[in-house]
Order: sequence, then structure tokens, then C-alpha cells
Amino acid sequence: MKLNKHVSLAILAAGMMTFACGGGGNETQKSGESTTTAPVEQKQAPGEKNKDNPDFVKGLALVKENDCPSCHMVERKIVGPSYAEVAEKYEYNDENIEMLASHVIAGNVGVWGEIPMPAHPNLSKEDAEQMVKYVLLLK
Ligand code: HEC
Repeated sequence: MKLNKHVSLAILAAGMMTFACGGGGNETQKSGESTTTAPVEQKQAPGEKNKDNPDFVKGLALVKENDCPSCHMVERKIVGPSYAEVAEKYEYNDENIEMLASHVIAGNVGVWGEIPMPAHPNLSKEDAEQMVKYVLLLK
């Protein structure tokens, strides 16, 4: 009358065999941080900080009324240099404003390349200077 219940624990085997494989792929998928933490360089549009300046506003209006946009854009060189480039090259001062206005009125060539800017003989000096002020405020 022996209660010979040898509970043979043969349950061990199975569970632990799933070790061996599964490796192999080294694709350590770190959740993609490609460190594109670009320094937040304040990318402001040219002239952003001057856009409420009355000289900017008036000059821009005049530029739009004239043929300037057919050869100039603010940030892209088309026929003529971009206004932003012009603003970068010249300091905003009376001398430069006068000189550039005279180039706009009389036409000019050779500062930016081979393509001439045609003369604008019908522009008043005042209007030309106003437009140049706008251009030079694009910085
Ligand atoms: C037919 C094309 C054309 C038109 C229209 C035109 N430009 Fe230009 N502009 C040019 C070119 C080309 C240059 C570069 C000339 C050079 O290299 O000296 C230039 C140069 C300039 C410069 C820089 C001048 C310098 O000496 O650095 C200013 C400022 C300027 N333009 C303003 C204006 C304004 C304001 C108007 C509208 C009244 C205007 N442009 C209309 C083609 C044009």
C-alpha cells in the first residue's frame, strides 16, 4: 500500500531550449535618434526685423509698382542680384543709398556681373532712394 506517486518532474526540458537561435541580426534598432539637433539658428526672413520701418514699407510699395521684380527677388538671384545680397554688401548709410539710387536711375553694370541693369530715367531721385532704402533694410 504505498502511494507511489512519483511525480516525475519531467517538465523541465522544454521551456529552456529557446535560447540558441534568435541572435544573428545585429540590427540593433535604436529608436532613430540621428542627432539632427541643428543649432536653432534664428532663420528669419531678410528684413523681418525692419518690416515695420516706414522706409521699408514705402520702398517696398514703390518696388512693386516698378519693374524691379522682373529682375530682382528678395532671396534669389534672377537677372539681377537678390536684394538680400545687395543688403549684405552695402551698409545702410546715406552715401550708399545715394550711390545705389544713382545706379538704379542711370543703369549700371559690372558690380555683380556682366548683365547690366537698365536705366530708369523716369524715376525721381527720391523714389529711387526710397527703394534702395527698402533693399538695404533687407538684412
Ligand atoms: C532688366 C533687369 C533689371 C531691372 C528691371 C532692375 N534691375 Fe536692378 N539690377 C539688375 C542687374 C543685372 C544688376 C547688377 C548690375 C551690376 O552688376 O552692376 C542690378 C543691380 C541692382 C542694385 C545694386 C547696384 C549696385 O551697384 O550694386 C540695386 C540696388 C538694384 N539693382 C535695384 C533695382 C531697383 C530698385 C529696380 C527697380 C526700379 C531695379 N533694380 C530694376 C537688373 C535689373
